[in-house]
Amino acid sequence: MTEIIGTHPLMQKLGHVTSKVAKTAATVMISGESGTGKELVARRVHELSPRVDKPFIAVNCGTIPGDLLESEMFGHTKGSFTGAHDHRPGMFQLAHTGTIFLDEIAEMSGLLQVKLLRVLQDREIRPVGADKPFHVDVRVIAATNKDLQAEVKAGRFRDDLYYRLQVIPITLPPLRERRSDIPLLIEHFMRKHNEARPYPISISEEAMVLLWEYDWPGNIRELENVIERTVILSDAPVIRPDALPANIRSFLSEKKIPAPALGEEGMDLNAAVEEFENRMIDEALRRTNGNKQAAARLLGLKRTTLVAKLRRKRGADYQVPQSYSF
Ligand SMILES: Nc1ncnc2c1ncn2[C@@H]1O[C@H](COP(=O)(O)OP(=O)(O)OP(=O)(O)O)[C@@H](O)[C@H]1O
Ligand SMILES: [Mg+2]
Repeated sequence: MTEIIGTHPLMQKLGHVTSKVAKTAATVMISGESGTGKELVARRVHELSPRVDKPFIAVNCGTIPGDLLESEMFGHTKGSFTGAHDHRPGMFQLAHTGTIFLDEIAEMSGLLQVKLLRVLQDREIRPVGADKPFHVDVRVIAATNKDLQAEVKAGRFRDDLYYRLQVIPITLPPLRERRSDIPLLIEHFMRKHNEARPYPISISEEAMVLLWEYDWPGNIRELENVIERTVILSDAPVIRPDALPANIRSFLSEKKIPAPALGEEGMDLNAAVEEFENRMIDEALRRTNGNKQAAARLLGLKRTTLVAKLRRKRGADYQVPQSYSF
């Protein structure tokens, strides 16, 4: 059974919706950024449905050339076009009694959109070159990482098809909007990729914090790739920040601390350096939950140096700011 990791409220809601819709044959439209698990959710819906023992056929509308997609989806008869040497069933026929997953639906041509709309309305398909349509029983799940409503507004996607597909819309959140699932996912992928190692390795708290704070534009796929690569390449028993990709290590300092600008009146360099140092220290303490040892390591300082700086700047009983983002 497909495993969907996540306990964030958004994922709990998702689990609830998927098990509910799985019991029906309603058309499902899954949207979400790249790598958020659209295909995984589609498989899950199929697996939880009464069609579980029937085929699940995935068609990627974005990678099959436009002129081939129609015969790929609906099949063709012998001699219907140059190269059609035989009758060939399409994906809809192969998915009969099961589920078809139409991935990257926004890439479908206008002509094919009309044909798909007819299939959804009449539950009939007509292979290329055939003179009669015939009935199919297929559950349709579509997916896109585009804003389909914007595609409709721009005239690139038919609104009638849009409404046919949106019977049950499911939106997958990007990973950065459910950061509390990051440790769970890391644990899951570490367990998975540790299997190929002579001995299992673990991850340090500082490395975990960096992975937590990173924005993950490629979402779960990117996270899995990073964990897989790091686990395979690691010689040490524990993954520390220096084993992580450079873009993740530098993410916070580049993203959250804006570069200082020399304004019209110039600037007081000493004050600016001081300000920068303060913010870096705050950031490091926040990221390590106030652990001075770990914060010092992130800053490349000895613990004693960090403690001395804190004393000098803020007095002996300085408290770490409590505005944690987690
Ligand atoms: N919640 C999750 N738990 C465990 N693994 C996940 C989860 N979500 C995604 N994955 C894994 O992340 C990878 C990407 O997922 P999937 O292919 O379903 O994403 P997608 O939204 O279809 O991406 P794309 O738009 O790039 O096609 C897969 O290897 C999948 O198994
Ligand atoms: Mg996909």
